[in-house]
Amino acid sequence: MNIQSKPTILFFDSGVGGLSVYQEVKQLLPDYHYLYCFDNAYFPYSEKPEEGIVERTLKICQRIEKLCPLDLIVIACNTASTVVLPVLRKHFSIPIVGTVPAIKPAAEQTKTKHIGLLATKGTVKRQYLSDLIDKYASFCQVEKIGSTKLVELAEHKLHGYPIDLNEIKAELSEWENIPDLDAVVLGCTHFPLLKSEIQQCLPQVKYFIDSGAAIAKRVKSLLKDVKVRSKNQMNSQVFCTKPLVKEDSLLELIHSLGFEKLSLLDIDSEILCDSDKK
Ligand code: DGL
Repeated sequence: MNIQSKPTILFFDSGVGGLSVYQEVKQLLPDYHYLYCFDNAYFPYSEKPEEGIVERTLKICQRIEKLCPLDLIVIACNTASTVVLPVLRKHFSIPIVGTVPAIKPAAEQTKTKHIGLLATKGTVKRQYLSDLIDKYASFCQVEKIGSTKLVELAEHKLHGYPIDLNEIKAELSEWENIPDLDAVVLGCTHFPLLKSEIQQCLPQVKYFIDSGAAIAKRVKSLLKDVKVRSKNQMNSQVFCTKPLVKEDSLLELIHSLGFEKLSLLDIDSEILCDSDKK
């Protein structure tokens, strides 16, 4: 596949969580052209109003589409996916892939029929989630924890700050004494980044399930016969919407994941800011 025939895929999240999804897709489709944008100016999305999330997600995706025609967008954020997909699909004619908490696979894998959903505060309270549980897990007892703290801890970890296991333990304390809880859905894309720490706090859980691999398969099938839109591709890069306080660890990480640089995206400007960090 030469550079001009590579489909361009944009990943969008409030923070670094979507990198857990990107890694799965990149592993399955190593030759595609990837852009990643995280809206750190409005992070965390967990408890933000729905209208704010919809407005920013649409604006940011449209802004990036102006810089580089896209072939597919992955909303690598469960919280945003619960509210933005219909609006995005109205404004874009390319495929939009959302991230849905893996309730169905968890209900298929549990032996005890007692499962946990770990997501953001926004995701756990949305009707979308109750419908998903009614549809796929009505025969299970489903425990829910909505946590903004865990999102922040995952973000800290990837930005190179130390994190305290006791803080994670405290967030999960209500599940400590549920011995038959055997499957936990990581229903926020930040949480696979804390999987080993979460595992240490919940030793009784046999299955931790996220949506990354299923999204990768979906992207592959949607792009099978795509006619690539962009002839003039920009570098494979990561955009943020606010300058970072500490960027060395994140820069090292994104380079190791195959991105060439980090750029600041001014969502209100017509011109891409020239504050690119190599
Ligand atoms: N990573 C996001 C999700 O999957 C949201 C995290 C946040 O900003 O609250 O829900």
